[in-house]
Order: sequence, then C-alpha cells, then structure tokens
Amino acid sequence: MIGRLNHVAIAVPDLDAACAQYKNTLGAKVGAPQDEPDHGVTVVFVELPNTKIEFLYPLGENSPIQGFLDKNPSGGIHHICYEVDDIIVARDHLKASGARVLGTGEPKIGAHGKPVLFLHPKDFTGTLVELEQA
Ligand code: CO
Repeated sequence: MIGRLNHVAIAVPDLDAACAQYKNTLGAKVGAPQDEPDHGVTVVFVELPNTKIEFLYPLGENSPIQGFLDKNPSGGIHHICYEVDDIIVARDHLKASGARVLGTGEPKIGAHGKPVLFLHPKDFTGTLVELEQA
C-alpha cells in the first residue's frame, strides 16, 4: 500500500545551524524557511536525489515540536512520511487493521499542499508515521 519515502522530518533546536551544516558540510540543496502557522512550525526542505529531509523548528507558542525538543534537546528524527495513492482508502484500511489515526482522522493539508494524516507511533514500532497522498 505505501509507496515512496516522501521525507524524513528532523526536529532541530537551531534552524540556521542545521541549514548551514546540510548545505556546507553535507553539500545538500537546502530550501528557504517556510512558516506554517497552522501547524506551529517553520519548515525547511532539503532536496536529496531520492527523497527529502524536512527540518522542523517551533513556531509560536504551543508548537507541537516544542515538547519533542524538550525531551531531545539536540534534536532528532520526528517522523517519516510515506506516499499513498489514496489517503482515504489507506486510512480506512489502517483503521480496520486496528491502527490509530491521530487528530480527527480527517486528512489535513500538509506542508506540500497535499492531504496528510499521522499514525500513532505506538502502533508503528515507535515511529510517528505521516501519510501523504502523492
Ligand atoms: Co512531514
């Protein structure tokens, strides 16, 4: 059911430092920061030949990333995103299999302007999984 790895999201405590490291040390193509007030994050996409890295940095108060950074002050992998052809079909299949979909269970528009859903990390080997309709 799942398709390509769309991105790996890394929560970072210092966005400028993370961008500089990926650009200068790793030689990656690093995009411009985008504020996502609806999601409480500033994101930066790093383009790799076969996938993307998404830096997440807290935006505003009550950012969903802040608690993660409090527990992981150096930053860390926050979630992985797999592509699906039809997010409603995928969601209904997963729910029928007993997996928990976070939030209302209705897809939200994610950072790429496409519908996304998140699955409970306890149901997926301790990893927060994002599904994006490709
Ligand atoms: Co993501």
